Amino acid sequence: MKIVYWSGSGNTEKMADLIAKGVNEGGKNAEIINVSDANSNIFDNEEIIVLGCPAMGSEVLEECEFEPFIDSISDKVSGKKVALFGSYDWGDGQWMRDWKDRMEGLGCQLINDGLIIQEASSEDCEECIDLGKMLSSI
Ligand SMILES: Cc1cc2nc3c(=O)[nH]c(=O)nc-3n(C[C@H](O)[C@H](O)[C@H](O)COP(=O)(O)O)c2cc1C
Repeated sequence: MKIVYWSGSGNTEKMADLIAKGVNEGGKNAEIINVSDANSNIFDNEEIIVLGCPAMGSEVLEECEFEPFIDSISDKVSGKKVALFGSYDWGDGQWMRDWKDRMEGLGCQLINDGLIIQEASSEDCEECIDLGKMLSSI
């Protein structure tokens, strides 16, 4: 299972690591891919898409790498199952609500609620691992 993420200060990367840990503990194989190493074909043979990006700009996805990547896969994701995650700080999660709506608008089936974690506090680790385990059970 491929987990593609962007992270500026490491919080979303930490979430990706923990989700992958959960996937692996659940018996499937997780591959963590920095979006800078991803291309638009990366999910072609995948049934499940796992994407992570923090709230950036003013409640938007990171605009230099992650936003263009989402744009590049937009015409290929219809009918796929998608899990979203990301870190935030001072907002209320608006970027994730918008991102979920967008992916649903592209025809994806969301398989989680969009896991958001303020910065990356250690007590939230379990939520990430649990998401990974849930993903491995699909
Ligand atoms: C340029 C910039 C813009 C940000 N914009 C938002 C925002 O709109 N809403 C929010 O809740 N947090 C915002 N943040 C906070 C980040 O989402 C937060 O620090 C997050 O943990 C960063 O994740 P990362 O370590 O994976 O890069 C912003 C941070 C930066 C550096």
